[in-house]
Amino acid sequence: MSSKIIPYGKQNITDEDINAVINALKGDFLTQGPTILKFEEKFSKYIGSKYSVAVSNGTAALHLAALSLGVNKGDKVITTPITFAASANCIRYCGGEVIFSDIDPLTYLIDLNKIEKLLSESPIGTYKGIIPVNFAGKAVDLEKLNNICKKYGLWILEDACHAPGGFFVDSKKEKQNCGSCNYSDLSIFSFHPVKHIATGEGGMITTNNEELYKKLLSLRTHGITRDVNRFVNSIEFANGQNEQNSYPGWYMEMQNLGFNYRFTDFQAALGISQLSKADSGLVRRQQIAKKYSQSFQGKSFIKGQSGYIDGHAYHLYILEVSDRLGLYNYLKEHNILCQVHYIPCHLMPYYRNLGWKEGDMPFAEDYYKNCISIPMFPSMTDEQVEYVIMEINKYYE
Ligand SMILES: Cc1ncc(COP(=O)(O)O)c(C=O)c1O
Repeated sequence: MSSKIIPYGKQNITDEDINAVINALKGDFLTQGPTILKFEEKFSKYIGSKYSVAVSNGTAALHLAALSLGVNKGDKVITTPITFAASANCIRYCGGEVIFSDIDPLTYLIDLNKIEKLLSESPIGTYKGIIPVNFAGKAVDLEKLNNICKKYGLWILEDACHAPGGFFVDSKKEKQNCGSCNYSDLSIFSFHPVKHIATGEGGMITTNNEELYKKLLSLRTHGITRDVNRFVNSIEFANGQNEQNSYPGWYMEMQNLGFNYRFTDFQAALGISQLSKADSGLVRRQQIAKKYSQSFQGKSFIKGQSGYIDGHAYHLYILEVSDRLGLYNYLKEHNILCQVHYIPCHLMPYYRNLGWKEGDMPFAEDYYKNCISIPMFPSMTDEQVEYVIMEINKYYE
């Protein structure tokens, strides 16, 4: 019996991280300081995007992304039912309609063939966009999705919360990082404690589109701009009806209905420190995944696939098992706290009230019956990994 509880996921905060935050707190800025821009620049470099915009959490990132893409009342936007609710909710925040489309039972990702079929059955313009999710850390083939979306005029907002460091290989045999936006309009990340990079709360939006980048910066802070080139009111008005040839130092304008979704300087300091360990954390996650895969492959209690996947960022390690409830309770009694990702989003009471029902997404619903996320975090020791494997095998003996 492990004396310590082993959760399914956990942050990895080191003395270096703590010192980075202390140093930031001793500085002049608590919120909106220069460390935020530094973090954004480093994040862009790591992910391979042109721009990054740090925000207060991943849900805020999704909301602002949807707003900047112009989601409006009644707009139909497609997403997967196997995701955290926020991936779908951001469309509802803007008054849009969420269209769930079923998963591929082998990858657990939104099925691109089903998307193409869905789009081909309605006139062009019926659907405005799609939110693919790199669920568990596995990259969606955005090149393939982009080819479909170009044909039908949809934008792509990639939910990459589970996948910093993940990638897919495109038709030119090039690695395409999750969040690089080479095949999407925008991508978003979360820095929630169980994620690869943890800042408490926190999120990031990446893009290669300058216009979207500027919109996001404005929406993040109340729709306010201090950019002289963007001012709408006259210089005379700004100066209090005094004739001058420039805007006064205090002047700013609220031009759009934005929000306070700002990140803080000390979180950015933590983010930079965490980012410096992102690669080693990813390597450790992949080591653990390889060990699990070797241990469970071919076992009679495993339903579905359990093999190691290249390019997978392994935010989660998921098994599909027989008697999932029994295993979950047994592991809990033995201090191993598993989780289930996810209860299909379309069957949450909120979405049932909008008309979704059982049977609408048969593959997602089938997957939910057997899936379990077993512990996966970079600070997990070899002994803990062995203990989890031993207890799972013991349960089925
Ligand atoms: C796939 C996915 N999208 C969006 C979010 C929302 O991120 P946050 O919790 O930072 O708001 C999460 C976080 O749990 C997530 O897992």
